Amino acid sequence: MKFHIVILLLFVLGVSRASGADKLKKNFYKNSCRQAETLVRNITWSRAANDSKLGAKILRVHYHDCFVRGCDASILLDTVGTDAAEKSARPNLSLLGFEVIDEIKSEIEKVCPQVVSCADILALAARDAVSFPFKKDMWEVYTGRRDGRISLSSEVTGNIPGANSNFATLKNLFANKSLSVTDLVALSGAHTIGVAHCGAFSRRLYNFSGNGDTDPSLNQAYAETLKSQCPNPASSTITVEMDPQSSESFDTHYFTAVKQNKGLFQSDAALLTNTASSKIVDSLQKANTFFSQFGKSMKNMGEIEVLIGNAGEIRKNCRIVNA
Ligand code: HEM
Repeated sequence: MKFHIVILLLFVLGVSRASGADKLKKNFYKNSCRQAETLVRNITWSRAANDSKLGAKILRVHYHDCFVRGCDASILLDTVGTDAAEKSARPNLSLLGFEVIDEIKSEIEKVCPQVVSCADILALAARDAVSFPFKKDMWEVYTGRRDGRISLSSEVTGNIPGANSNFATLKNLFANKSLSVTDLVALSGAHTIGVAHCGAFSRRLYNFSGNGDTDPSLNQAYAETLKSQCPNPASSTITVEMDPQSSESFDTHYFTAVKQNKGLFQSDAALLTNTASSKIVDSLQKANTFFSQFGKSMKNMGEIEVLIGNAGEIRKNCRIVNA
């Protein structure tokens, strides 16, 4: 009898997981707004041509969107009234690239009013901005997301891991979003592009365990270089490349750096503190393996708690909910 209940449970769980993965579709706007994906790509590529950092900026915005209330463009909403929006939470103050999403949205509204969601535009633009140097799509983006109507700064902490997170915290926060350790390691590979403010890692350099020490797990020579770039106390304006000399190139160099104990954050270094995750770091040093796994993990991340069907709305303006 018990055995049958287990089988039934497995079946139900299996079915709901499958339908979860089937929520989004390839080319969802094929009939409703044929030009949508091309417009996103053309505008993103033209902006990326003048801003080599755009891929890093928009990729991070998409990640911060998906981890709080799912990929529903809640990160794009401005604060109205007294309830501070996600954007104003501390980890989000350094997000950039919103104006490119606004531009894409306003161009798409001219041809297909209120058809294409801000959440989909963000997911597509993140892919397109990172893909620009390769002149081809680096991963597939399924569409059909709808936009949320709620954005609360108070929901950011506890959902988005901090730079000082250890492996257990990272694993838990990713598992809360149905993402595996493989997804955690592959998606951390996004740190192959972009920059960080000194404050995000200065504790590792100057006060790791509360007595003025440096994190012993950080490569010593690299720690010295970082100290010269980021004097104590941390400046709020200085930034450093997360993957030195390669921070504008989407490649596997991040994993090589992590292996050499040159991961910038404790969260990067933490990937070596677990046997399974450390093996994944090894395997992702191969370019083909990284690109293919990153694509799969982006698809998983892009499906987090998405709103579909009649849920949510299609915003007219990505910064404000519809009246
Ligand atoms: C695993 C947990 C993660 C932690 C603890 C983390 C933490 C951080 C921190 C502290 C910064 C620097 C922000 C600043 O000082 O300006 C940063 C930058 C960045 N993160 Fe992460 N991150 C994580 C995962 C991810 C994921 C999953 C993605 C995307 C898939 C991502 C993409 C980026 C990008 C592209 C930047 C650079 C942004 C820019 O240059 O404008 N991160 N991250």
